[in-house]
Order: sequence, then C-alpha cells, then structure tokens
Amino acid sequence: EKGGYEHFMLKEMYEQPKAVTDTFSPRIKGNDIVIEELGMTDEEIRAIRKIMIVACGSAYHAGVTSKYVFEGMARIPVEVDVASEYRYRDPIIDEGTLVVIISQSGETADSLAALRESKARGARVLGIVNVVGSSIAREADNVMYTWAGPEIAVATTKAYSCQLIAMYLLAMKFAKVRGQVTENEMKRYIEDMKRLPDQIELLLNNQNRIQKFANRYLAARDVFFIGRGIDYAISMEGSLKLKEISYIHSEAYAAGELKHGTISLIEEGTLVAAVLTQEDLYKKMISNMVEVRTRGAFVLAVTNEGNDEVERAADYVIYIPETNQYFTNSLAIIPLQLFGYYISVGRGCDVDKPRNLAKSVTVE
Ligand code: M6R
Repeated sequence: EKGGYEHFMLKEMYEQPKAVTDTFSPRIKGNDIVIEELGMTDEEIRAIRKIMIVACGSAYHAGVTSKYVFEGMARIPVEVDVASEYRYRDPIIDEGTLVVIISQSGETADSLAALRESKARGARVLGIVNVVGSSIAREADNVMYTWAGPEIAVATTKAYSCQLIAMYLLAMKFAKVRGQVTENEMKRYIEDMKRLPDQIELLLNNQNRIQKFANRYLAARDVFFIGRGIDYAISMEGSLKLKEISYIHSEAYAAGELKHGTISLIEEGTLVAAVLTQEDLYKKMISNMVEVRTRGAFVLAVTNEGNDEVERAADYVIYIPETNQYFTNSLAIIPLQLFGYYISVGRGCDVDKPRNLAKSVTVE
C-alpha cells in the first residue's frame, strides 16, 4: 500500500507533481481559468469586498500564503484566521465577504464550526476540501476540491501543495474578473503553473543531499525558520513539518521581528533556516541572516536560482527553480518537507503517526 516507499509521508511527497497537476489541469482552459464549482457570476465576483480565510494547522498556512497572493494579484483585502480563534471572536463579515474554509479532511471540528458561524452571519462560504463528500464539502455553499487523492500520513504534504494551487487559481480568476491582470500576465501565470510539477519533481530528486544535511541536525534542540512576506508563510509550514514529526522545538518568525526578542535565543550552532524567494526583500533578509550568523547560528538558505548574493550570508544553500513571485512557496516547501521527514527518520520517530496527533481533528 506504500507502493515501495518506506513511509506514507515519503510516498505522498513523491505524489505531489501528479496531485498538483490533477488540481490545476481541469481548471485551465487555454489562457483562462474556469472554476465552475465556484458557482459565482462575474458580477458576484466583482461584488466581493473582502475575503476571509479560515483553517487550522497547515491549511491555515496555505491560507496565509494565499493572503499575499490574493492581495498582490487581485487587490482584494484578505484576512486569515485559525478556526479555533475565529469562531469565538465575533468576526466582522457580511454578504460582501467570501469566507474560504480550507481543509484536507473536511472534518476538522473548528473549521466546520467556523463554516456554520459564517453562514449564519450571511457570508457566502467556499470550501477548499480534499475529501469528497466530507462535512465541510457538504455544508459549504460551494466546494472546490483539491485532487490530492487520499492522504494517510498525519503530516500533510500533497494536500497542502494542492491547497496552494487551488488558492492560486482562485486568485487568478478573481484578478482576471476584476481587471487586475493583463492577458500577458495571465498567460505567464498559467505557463508558470504548468511548469510547477516538473520543478517539484526536480526538487524531490534532491533528496539525498537534504538527507545528508538533515543527518547533521538530528540532535538539534531548537530550529528557527525565518522569512518575510510570503516566505514568512512558508517558514510557518516548514517549522510545523519539522516539529510535528521530529519533536524538535522549532519556531517561525517574520525575519524583521528577530531583533524584538527572539534573537536572544540564538547560540553557537543554532540552526536557522532562512527562506528568501522575494527579490525585493533579498537585501533585508540577507542582513537578518548576517545578524544571526554573527551570533553563531548556522544558516540554511532556501532561495531562487541566481541569487548568488546569498552565499555570503549562508552556510548551506538550496536553490529553487525560477517561477513568478506568487508561486515560490510551492517550490520552497519541498526541501523543507524533506528536511522534516529525514530528521524524523534519523531520530527513529514514528513518521506517519507522530505521538499525540490524529489525522483529522474532529473534536475541539
Ligand atoms: O484536515 P484539515 O486540513 O482541516 O486539518 C488541519 C490540520 O489539523 C492539519 O493541517 C495539521 O496541522 C497537519 N498535521 C499538519 O501537517
């Protein structure tokens, strides 16, 4: 059932190129994005004043990435919240709000409660769900499925990657209808999206190098992930991947926040993973990397091919292939997933079924 792989997590990571393709291909028609299941007319799309994304765990992280994509591409204000907070905070939403609930299982108790709360307040609810016919899929006004296929490992990989794709498609659709992208930009986004599966494959084939690197950090006590903007979102997901299956303490920080407290935790040899895929923020990131390195940190960088500048501030660099500024998380997450996986394997942890965790959290 694991198809020759040692763990479901590894198998599912390797299924990502296909899962991602299955999620975007039915929704790309020529140079256009067609999402019939969205069930919204262009007029309705134009009438949306705010998008409220609600989810838990990794699905929440996919939501944080989407905020940057939606705001940048489609120029619509986006709020993101974890479902357990949202449901009790008296959120300000109305008929002009599109609430997007992201969930792999479609059964997460807090996400389902957030959905019900949103509907009760008159908002339109779209579910981005992986499990067909699940509770969230049934109760949402509309459902856009991620076609990742069954995901068994507790640590999500392929479903998360498909959530990103679904959200990019949605942002592209909204951007088009609201007149925020030119035909050429749209063409370019579609071309970039079609290249993602091969690029993901390429990064997966880098596994030996990442395994070797991970083996040097099996005894790490704390790991910090830093990034800015969309790279802060990926840092959160990289950090969760590591901690949930390896039991190593890790945290994600917006790189500019380091000097407001966290930098005092950096000691000789502390591993800091820095993600920098946004060209306009390279310089700022590099100066943060220099700051932690001067205090003894070992800096692992994940950045775009061609950013050679980074070598002066990092001890180890993983390059991701070229894509546009909005899709980089789909590539940067691959080495971080592999890193978490190999640390967990190296420490002899139960990779697919980490302690205290369940695949779907159906209780509050
Ligand atoms: O099924 P859901 O997407 O609603 O689950 C949400 C979280 O429980 C889930 O993403 C969790 O954080 C994963 N274990 C992360 O790998």
